[in-house]
Amino acid sequence: MPHPAIALPRLIAHRGLSAHAPENTLAAVRATPEAGCAWVELDVQLLGDGTPVIWHDATVKRCSDGRARLADLDLPAARRLDVGSWFADRFRGERMATLREMLGLIEALGLGLNLELKVNRGRSAAALVEGVLPTLLDALPAERVIVSSFNADALARARELAPADRLALGVLFEGITRDWRERCEAVAAFSVHADWKRLSRRGALAVHEAGYPLLCYTANDPAAFAHQWAWGVASVISDDPARFAGHLPPAG
Ligand code: G3P
Ligand code: MG
Repeated sequence: MPHPAIALPRLIAHRGLSAHAPENTLAAVRATPEAGCAWVELDVQLLGDGTPVIWHDATVKRCSDGRARLADLDLPAARRLDVGSWFADRFRGERMATLREMLGLIEALGLGLNLELKVNRGRSAAALVEGVLPTLLDALPAERVIVSSFNADALARARELAPADRLALGVLFEGITRDWRERCEAVAAFSVHADWKRLSRRGALAVHEAGYPLLCYTANDPAAFAHQWAWGVASVISDDPARFAGHLPPAG
């Protein structure tokens, strides 16, 4: 199965450079190249009015000055929220990013993007994929995009809309399940993404030997991660990728 010719980086900034800026914001992405990192992982969902926005949670409580569910907000209401000062006062006035404006920034910075389709409870996987994919495919070259999800319906719909040579898909796991390979084959996946704390040597080697790049989230301690590199892990998704400088295995 042909895939886009993706030059996978060793390091991907989780939710942007989220150790140093409010997660999933334009500020967090702008800061990423300064940390020596060329790819970002971001979460995407739909507002109640169907606008795709870069956001992780089902509500805005944790990362803004509001309390609403995302499904109950339209774009003007979402834009009134301050999504920066919860993190640090110097980010006061940061606004929730739409997918479209985030893609513009990523393209301007020349970054790669792992976009996670975040299907929170009660939300439609199909509506999310259909709201996101046309914009995404138009905005960035296939060589700089991986779309991932925990949600099998979202991945299946994405694959219906875009063939494997046009869109790399990553299957997200917490622990690698017994049926991991079937789940990857079902959507002609490019990569496997797993929680590094639940990764076994056996699971990692099986993925590696099957030829799938293995990406691990969310690792922030390079000393604790040394074994995982030896198991053939391709990339680390980290809140603070600069910590891994000097701790990376040789390329290859
Ligand atoms: O894509 C890897 C990671 O972001 C998955 O978990 O909850 O941080 O979106 P979460
Ligand atoms: Mg994510």
